[in-house]
Amino acid sequence: MGSRFEGSGVLVTGGAAGMGRAIAAAFLGEGAKVVIADIDEERVGKTAEELGSGGEVSSLGVDVTSEEQVGEMIRRGDEALGGIDVLVNNAGVITMDKVTDVSEKDWDFVMDVNAKGVFLCVKAVIPGMLERGGGRIVNIASQAGKRGYKLFAHYCASKAAVIVFSKGVALEVAPTIRINCVCPGIVNTEMMDREYVWEEEMTGETQAAIKERWMAGIPMGRFQEPEHIARVAMFLASEDSSEMTGQAINVTGGMVME
Ligand SMILES: NC(=O)c1ccc[n+]([C@@H]2O[C@H](COP(=O)([O-])OP(=O)(O)OC[C@H]3O[C@@H](n4cnc5c(N)ncnc54)[C@H](O)[C@@H]3O)[C@@H](O)[C@H]2O)c1
Repeated sequence: MGSRFEGSGVLVTGGAAGMGRAIAAAFLGEGAKVVIADIDEERVGKTAEELGSGGEVSSLGVDVTSEEQVGEMIRRGDEALGGIDVLVNNAGVITMDKVTDVSEKDWDFVMDVNAKGVFLCVKAVIPGMLERGGGRIVNIASQAGKRGYKLFAHYCASKAAVIVFSKGVALEVAPTIRINCVCPGIVNTEMMDREYVWEEEMTGETQAAIKERWMAGIPMGRFQEPEHIARVAMFLASEDSSEMTGQAINVTGGMVME
């Protein structure tokens, strides 16, 4: 394994579990100093301890929907890392319902964490990156932000917002800062475990049948692992992608090609 990020400071939101944890581990493996932030303060602390033997990592509690807390996260992250070179906006949530049953509260919850959360973190990190003369932002959006899916149209909307927001910001901050999205497909994390349970409850289709149906649409014939997403996040944060900004890259085993 190379060490493309030796000496770099990396902040990952939603880093307690799933993709965020894998992204943090991958950056640590290539020499970065990492801060993981999550609304589940206890779990993110434990995750930092577990990842600790792999390098320099610390944790913070944050709710990305609060401008005040995000400001504090960026301030403390900056301090711990000696400057944030890479911000990975990974924190996200999903709920599932027919659009006619989605409550205003659920719409606001999903839009607040997934879309407003990214806005607040991007807004807070940009001034420091501009001052230091560089930075890379990687947003974990979703292929669901490019396609519509029944039972989570509101989630699709929140991820589409992230993709287009990133393009607008890319124009504002180029060439000093690059900002790109990863659009995962179906990744084996607790989020998908919850999704299968809800879908089974709502449709009566068994979890095995749901998985089989999803799998049939994936040319590579497998769901993705958090580590697959981490590798592409690292690519977008590295010099290997120096000519890319405002992009939204699918990592779906070929399920989505647009
Ligand atoms: N799992 C998938 O198949 C899939 C596919 C496409 C996109 N995504 C996206 O990838 C990202 C990571 O998802 P995951 O599958 O690892 O999910 P996960 O539920 O396993 O992890 C998400 C993490 O975000 C944290 N979080 C939630 N709300 C927060 C808030 N307000 N402030 C700070 N942290 C918060 C959670 O505590 C959790 O640790 C999300 O943005 C998700 O929408 C997931």
